[in-house]
Amino acid sequence: MSLDMSNGRKPDHPVTPMFPSRWSPRSFTDREMSVAEVMSLLEAARWAPSASNHQPWRLVWARRGEAGFAAIADTLTGNNPLWAGKAAVLFAVASKDTVTNREGAEVPNRTAGFDTGAAWMSLALQAQEMGLFAHAMAGFDKDRLAAAVDLPEGHTLQCVVAAGEQGPAEALPDHLREREKPSGRKPVGEISVRGRF
Ligand SMILES: Cc1cc2nc3c(=O)[nH]c(=O)nc-3n(C[C@H](O)[C@H](O)[C@H](O)COP(=O)(O)O)c2cc1C
Repeated sequence: MSLDMSNGRKPDHPVTPMFPSRWSPRSFTDREMSVAEVMSLLEAARWAPSASNHQPWRLVWARRGEAGFAAIADTLTGNNPLWAGKAAVLFAVASKDTVTNREGAEVPNRTAGFDTGAAWMSLALQAQEMGLFAHAMAGFDKDRLAAAVDLPEGHTLQCVVAAGEQGPAEALPDHLREREKPSGRKPVGEISVRGRF
């Protein structure tokens, strides 16, 4: 039995194709996303699991052409400004890092980052279901992004996510075009161990 995916990835064990099919290209077409499509991505994020169902994820979004989009795009660093500004939508993904305890005090939620990661993955898989893709970026200036989105106290910016329709690799600068292909993974035996480390 061959498990090869159409994108060239080769799972070592049987798996639902949506996992190895998802990847993070950088080239976008001009296709816009409707507000309804954005709502579907957010709806997927909404249903992510979280500790005590606290749902600590908070997403600030804007479509290309909107002032909020330029404000988020302006804070990207490294190679990210070379491609992410062509996305249809940008999301600034934050976590709310405290919860209210029984006494009414705000106490740390130590799983806020973990839970917010689950929400981003849900969004990415929903994008894939819709024939779109989502690409996460940790390369942003956190102080400038906090100012751009008016980040409330007690929240942490985890990522910026670019979403849209995949474009041709040829549209990218040379050094990014070479990297425009699905990456591999460590074997299961390297990321897991039976019983204990
Ligand atoms: C938290 C996080 C931060 C990332 N930051 C960036 C980034 O700043 N720029 C970028 O081009 N890709 C970024 N990526 C994409 C990763 O490089 C990519 O997910 C990884 O190489 C695996 O490839 P795949 O998503 O295509 O399977 C980030 C991904 C994650 C999950």
